[in-house]
Amino acid sequence: MEILVTTNGPVMEVRLNRPDKKNAITVAMYSALADAFEHAAADPAVRVVTINGSGGVFTAGNDIGDFIAVRPGGEDMPVFRFLRAIAACPKVVIAGVEGLAIGIGTTMLLHCDLVLAASGTTFSMPFVNLGLVPEAASSLLLPRLIGRQRAAKHLLLGDSFDAETALEYGLVTGIVPAEELGRQLCALSERLAAKPPEAVRLTKALLIAPDCSVADRIAAEGALFEERLASAEAAAAFTAFFERGRKSG
Ligand code: COA
Repeated sequence: MEILVTTNGPVMEVRLNRPDKKNAITVAMYSALADAFEHAAADPAVRVVTINGSGGVFTAGNDIGDFIAVRPGGEDMPVFRFLRAIAACPKVVIAGVEGLAIGIGTTMLLHCDLVLAASGTTFSMPFVNLGLVPEAASSLLLPRLIGRQRAAKHLLLGDSFDAETALEYGLVTGIVPAEELGRQLCALSERLAAKPPEAVRLTKALLIAPDCSVADRIAAEGALFEERLASAEAAAAFTAFFERGRKSG
């Protein structure tokens, strides 16, 4: 199995498992990735999805053999199904990257909520060098994240960058020693899974909601905030706060 999916309580782990080819992603793998993310979206028991690689590598990007062999098939192609599913995923998505994050290995991170990078990871988007153009909305999201000139350095010149630069860019959340990556990814997903589920779900929905005016967003948040004040989750958190105060007092 080149995409391994395991579910552990509320956490679904998706692993790229083609280490002999640096986890280069084939059409069949995109299809399995799309299935996994669509399943995660539909299953109320899943609250966090992690995606990581194997063999010390995240992924060397799209399988180049497939670029030659596979006839483009428009929006129904598995790669687009995967990209739509990860971009719109209603569950928290956490990536753990190490070694190489090439092409879609970097661009998919723009759709993750949290990204842990092993120290020594190299990121690159060599689309132009291959005679191609950016994908996964990276031509929109990368300049928005890091500014147009720095995006051009990576999307036009194809310059690679290291984990420290990715952290400075805000493309990754943190850098961890390579041997710690699996453990820290687990710890982070467990931390998230322990939080009030509905509050997490609504916050994720706000984070990926389409752009709107500040006034409209304040109003949308306000309506949800009011509902949340009356929720059982908030009541439990408020009670715990005052009980903690009584215990320490
Ligand atoms: N598509 C298909 N096969 C790939 C691949 C890719 N994107 N990346 C690596 N592989 C395969 C290699 O062909 C090789 O297969 P083989 O053992 O049958 O010859 C195997 O994975 C190991 O790769 P190799 O090149 O020997 O390892 P390396 O450590 O010397 O270099 C890379 C690793 C990733 C730097 C190099 O393979 C590379 O540049 N790959 C292409 C990356 C790329 O441009 N991706 C597309 C982005 S849009």
